[in-house]
Amino acid sequence: MGNGQNYWVKAKTFVFFSLICISCFGRAKAQCPSDIGGEAVAEGKQQASLTGQLKFAHVIFRHGDRMPINPYPTDPWGNPKYWPTAWGELTNLGKQQHYELGKWLRKRYNCLLGSRYNRDEIYMQSTDVDRTLMSAESHLAGLYEPIDQDVWNPQIKWQPIPVHSVPEKADPILAAKAPCPAFDYYLANLQASSEFQSLIERYENLFNYLSANSGRQIKTFIDAQYLNNTLFIETLYNKTLPVWAQKVYGGANLTWASNFAFSVNTYTRTMARLKGGPLLKDILERFEIKIKNQLIPDRNVFIYSAHDTTIANLLNTLKLFEPHSPPYTACIMLELRVDANNMPLVSVFYKNTTAEPLPMNIPNCGVSCPLAKLIDLYADVLPGNWVDECKRSTLTMTYEEANLAAASGILICIIGVLLCASFGLMIYYRRRNYSMYTSYAQMA
Ligand SMILES: *[C@@H]1O[C@H](CO)[C@@H](O)[C@H](O)[C@H]1NC(C)=O
Ligand SMILES: *[C@@H]1O[C@H](CO)[C@@H](O)[C@H](O)[C@H]1NC(C)=O
Ligand SMILES: *[C@@H]1O[C@H](CO)[C@@H](O)[C@H](O)[C@H]1NC(C)=O
Ligand SMILES: *[C@@H]1O[C@H](CO)[C@@H](O)[C@H](O)[C@H]1NC(C)=O
Repeated sequence: MGNGQNYWVKAKTFVFFSLICISCFGRAKAQCPSDIGGEAVAEGKQQASLTGQLKFAHVIFRHGDRMPINPYPTDPWGNPKYWPTAWGELTNLGKQQHYELGKWLRKRYNCLLGSRYNRDEIYMQSTDVDRTLMSAESHLAGLYEPIDQDVWNPQIKWQPIPVHSVPEKADPILAAKAPCPAFDYYLANLQASSEFQSLIERYENLFNYLSANSGRQIKTFIDAQYLNNTLFIETLYNKTLPVWAQKVYGGANLTWASNFAFSVNTYTRTMARLKGGPLLKDILERFEIKIKNQLIPDRNVFIYSAHDTTIANLLNTLKLFEPHSPPYTACIMLELRVDANNMPLVSVFYKNTTAEPLPMNIPNCGVSCPLAKLIDLYADVLPGNWVDECKRSTLTMTYEEANLAAASGILICIIGVLLCASFGLMIYYRRRNYSMYTSYAQMA
C-alpha cells in the first residue's frame, strides 16, 4: 500500500541480490532471494514476502485454449469445417497462452533454473493427451529459448526439450485414470446418497431440458459440465448458440452445475485420497527427498501438464477449492522454502488470472506451512499403497457382491476342510504302513 520506505528497501534488496548473483555466477542461475518475482517487486506491486529461500517448485497447469471435445448430436456447429483444428486439440491461441506462461515462469523461477536447458534442473511430465503434450512443448519454448551453443538453427528460436508421459490408463498420478474399483464404488455410493439425490432432483428439470434439446443424455453434473463446456467454447469462438441453449447457457443453474461437477470426484476425503492423493503424495515425498539432499538428479523444478480436473482435484484434496471452472493455463505452484534454521516450509499459489498470484491460506497452517506439519495435516488423503487401497474389500462391496463373496468364501472353506481331511487320512495310512515297515526293519 504505497509504503515508500518499504518499496526502497525491497528495491535495494533486489538490486543487491542481483549484483551478487551477476558477480558470482555470471550467466548461471541466480540465488533465490526470499522475495521472488523481482519484476513485480520493482513495479511496486503487492508481493508476498515469505520466510526462507526458495529451493524447489512443483508446477501443475491446465492446457491452453482448445477445440470442443465432442459436440452434441444436434449441434449446429458440429461440423469440423467451422473450426480451425480437430476436436479436443490445442489451438494457436492455446500455444501462445502457454508460451507466455512459460515466459512468466522463467521470470519467477530464474533463480532455480539456469538460462540454458539442463536436464538435471527440470523435469516436465504431461498426461498422454495431444493438447497437454502440445501445451507442455509451447510452455518450454517460452521457458527456454536456445542461447549460445544451444542455437542449432538461427532461424528457429526453439529447441527440443523432453516431455515425459505415461499412457492414461497406466497413470494413477497425473491423468488419474488408472482403474481403481474402490474409487468407483465410493463414487457410486455418493451418487446414490440421499444428499446427492436431492441435489440431482433440484437440477432434474435442467438435465431433462438439456437432454431433450442436445440429443444426448444428461444425467449427472459432469454430463452437464461437458455440454456447458462445448457451449462455452462456441461462445468464445463467436458462434451463435441455438435459442434453447441461449436460454440456459450463462444462467445461474447451468453454471452452478458445471462448477459443482469439478468437486464431485474428490467430494469425500476417501475419494480425494484415491483420486487426488497420489499426485499430492508424489509432490510431498519429492519435497522430503529434496530436503534430505537425496533427490537424484538434484532438480529444482517439476512441471506437470494436465487438465481442469487435475487442478480442481488437487485444490479440493488440499481443501483449497472454491467451486469454479479452472480456466485455460490455470496453474498451481507448490513451492518449498528453507528458513535460516533449515526448516522446510511449503506455500501454495494458484494463478487463474493474469494477476500475480498470492499464497493461499493452507487450512490450519497459513501461507508458509512447515513441511512436516503439512504432511500431518493431509495424512488422511495420502494413500499408503494405492494399488491395495483400490482393491475392493468386503467392506466396500454392495450387499449382493458381499453375499457372493461370502458364498464363495464358504465354498472355499468347505473345499479346504475336505482337502485337509483327505490329507490327514493319507498321512495316517502312510504312517501306519511306515510303522509296519520300520517294525520289520528293526527286526532285521
Ligand atoms: C433454476 O432452477 C430452479 C429449479 O431448481 C428454477 O426454479 C429456476 O427457475 C431456475 N433458474 C433459471 C434462471 O432458470
Ligand atoms: C460453464 O459456463 C460458464 C459461463 O456461464 C463458464 O464461465 C465456465 O467456464 C463454463 N464451464 C466449463 C467447464 O466450460
Ligand atoms: C469474437 O469476437 C470478438 C469481438 O468482435 C473478437 O475480439 C474475437 O477475436 C472473436 N473471436 C474469434 C475466435 O474469432
Ligand atoms: C480463481 O480462483 C479463485 C480461488 O479458487 C476462485 O474463487 C475464482 O472463481 C477463480 N477465478 C477464475 C476466473 O477462475
